[in-house]
Amino acid sequence: MGVFITFEGPEGSGKSTQARLLYERLQAEGYPVILTREPGGTRIGEMIRRILVDLRHTEMAPTTETLLFSAARAQLVSELIRPYLNTGGIVLCDRYADSTFAYQGYGLGRDLDELQAITTVATGGLMPDLTLYLDIDVEEGLRRKRAQRERTTAPGAAAARAEWNRLDARDLAYHQRVVAGFFELMQREPGRWRRLSANQPVEAVAAQIYAEVEPLLAPVPRLGSMV
Ligand SMILES: Nc1ncnc2c1ncn2[C@@H]1O[C@H](COP(=O)(O)OP(=O)(O)OP(=O)(O)O)[C@@H](O)[C@H]1O
Ligand SMILES: [Mg+2]
Repeated sequence: MGVFITFEGPEGSGKSTQARLLYERLQAEGYPVILTREPGGTRIGEMIRRILVDLRHTEMAPTTETLLFSAARAQLVSELIRPYLNTGGIVLCDRYADSTFAYQGYGLGRDLDELQAITTVATGGLMPDLTLYLDIDVEEGLRRKRAQRERTTAPGAAAARAEWNRLDARDLAYHQRVVAGFFELMQREPGRWRRLSANQPVEAVAAQIYAEVEPLLAPVPRLGSMV
């Protein structure tokens, strides 16, 4: 039931930008669609997100981090994602379980089987129908994020600065392990992933994403198309 699409990729690769554009286009085409993000997306999940990104939380144990991400995910799946998929709609999610394998697994060196077990508990085994990987050089992504942060002034500045968080502040080698991890994940399940270059204008990436998504939309009823 429904179509579940996730966005993955390193920091600053354009996930949030592209998720928003796809959401707006699907909505304009009359599809029932929701856009959410991880960690967060629910009232409880957004509270967990604040704990995770807080730069003061330098003492957070890797297990705590993993379980908090999973707790937020469990809430999101049960409160929002599953119910919406059950109505036959399209769910777009800015990051999902693959990020746990890439960041906590390959990035922080957590055992992958253990992460799989925790993830299965959190999601009840729900995995995306399609995962869009926005491919960018780690340094270029971090540069874009930094530029975004510096551009932002006055209203909304606090929100943009908050996006530069505890997890982004980890070193380059960590982010490179994360990317290598994403490549492993893609190799394991090539059918689910589409890898797109994020080194193109925003509109070009968006057009490629729509071309990947369109074939999945046939079973989704469009608003106003009922006869
Ligand atoms: N194709 C692109 N070319 C150039 N700049 C881009 C492109 N896509 C997004 N950007 C810019 O890069 C910055 C990061 O984009 P965005 O927030 O969408 O990335 P993200 O992957 O969601 O990042 P994060 O990992 O922080 O969630 C923004 O300033 C955005 O405007
Ligand atoms: Mg984002």
